Amino acid sequence: MGKHDERDGADKARAEIWQSWRRTCADNADHPRAKELFDRNKLPAFHDPFAGGGALPLEAQRLGLEAYASDLNPVAVLINKAMIEIPPKFAGMPPVNPEWQSKSEAEKALRVWKGAEGLAEDIRYGKWMRDEAEKRLGHLYPQVAVTEEMAKERRELKSMSARN
Ligand SMILES: C[S@@+](CC[C@H](N)C(=O)[O-])C[C@H]1O[C@@H](n2cnc3c(N)ncnc32)[C@H](O)[C@@H]1O
Repeated sequence: MGKHDERDGADKARAEIWQSWRRTCADNADHPRAKELFDRNKLPAFHDPFAGGGALPLEAQRLGLEAYASDLNPVAVLINKAMIEIPPKFAGMPPVNPEWQSKSEAEKALRVWKGAEGLAEDIRYGKWMRDEAEKRLGHLYPQVAVTEEMAKERRELKSMSARN
């Protein structure tokens, strides 16, 4: 699927969501709290209380809904924070890494940062920093060969043990 097809598909889905919401508002026009609960100009927020890897709130956000996610599992919460809570805070912002900061004002003015592009650039820079730190300091943290003996006590090491 090309980028344009994807955008067309998302636009169709957004239109469908609005149509369905307006129908719901019309169906509930005589609800005692209709004004508060069924405002035809404001889509309701989306909440996935068992969000897991966050596919549903991510898609909801992409389709223009205010999206919320929660989960019992802290790893799922972390994934959801990284996918749907943090990126919008930096939407449309330039990166903050020193490489970008060192460019001239004229050069900076030429670049428009859309969506999470600036944040993504900082993450790429973070990977470069990590690799650089490993190059310079890695020798201070020698690699350890995981033995079967170690893996017996710590099951999470099993896949790293030599005989696996
Ligand atoms: C099948 S997964 C969710 C899949 C996700 N909704 C999706 O469509 O990709 C179910 C999730 O519910 C979470 N869960 C199970 N019991 C829960 C509870 N009582 N409260 C909150 N989350 C719970 C699990 O941690 C797991 O991440």
